[in-house]
Amino acid sequence: MKLHFKEKGSGYPVLLIHGFPLDHTIYLETADRLCDHARVVLADLRGFGQSIPTGQAISLRQMADDLIELMDDLEIEKAILGGHSMGGYIGLDFCRRYPQRAAGLALIASHSGADTDEQRQGRLANIERIRGGQARDYLLETMLPKLSQSVDVRKRLTGLMTSTADDTLIGALRSMADRHDHTHWLKESGIPAAVICGEDDMILPVEKAVQMAALIGADPVAAIPAAGHMPMMENPDATADALKRFVGRVAGNPA
Ligand code: MLT
Repeated sequence: MKLHFKEKGSGYPVLLIHGFPLDHTIYLETADRLCDHARVVLADLRGFGQSIPTGQAISLRQMADDLIELMDDLEIEKAILGGHSMGGYIGLDFCRRYPQRAAGLALIASHSGADTDEQRQGRLANIERIRGGQARDYLLETMLPKLSQSVDVRKRLTGLMTSTADDTLIGALRSMADRHDHTHWLKESGIPAAVICGEDDMILPVEKAVQMAALIGADPVAAIPAAGHMPMMENPDATADALKRFVGRVAGNPA
């Protein structure tokens, strides 16, 4: 499907993929800082933001396919991907099935593993809550407090989260629960990887990010100060700097 997107700057293409259940606007401040170094493309994934649902099931796989279609439309042969949380899972699926189209992958508050049994059960329970008409409670009472401590950021996130349709929430949760572990594959693939995480992230603590970075052979972790799960909104200067370093390394020597 045709995704809603924005483009800024020129240079090596960088495709920034948002997390769940958000849209491209989480990256606006970071893109403003990155666009003098790169051609930055921000898209709303299917079902999110202004990419109106098509009635087809939402899955990580389909969202990755949509990004390939967008790159084809924009005549981008190969891009550096930056994936936030669920966007990182989509980036991993993309790299696995279209490695020739990915010059590098920055995992932003995201990780390369599959769900533990407990996480999977939690997602299935949340699907039932949404089916029972409790999407708002799930999003605003269970999820939002873990994303950021910043009142301003929470206000923006509230609007984004509550405008997502229940079917989209359910499809994305189910697909995240079913995803595979790409840790070993990513290291073996030779695709350059970077890990960016908020120093105060409650969902992906820095220690876990450091362990993962070693397993996937990534650059040293960029731990973003004064940031939780939303470093691109909470500290766009430091997040853009980390992305600039990665773009410099990869685009100076494209894979
Ligand atoms: C996200 O921010 O995209 C989600 O927290 C990802 C997840 O639930 O694993």
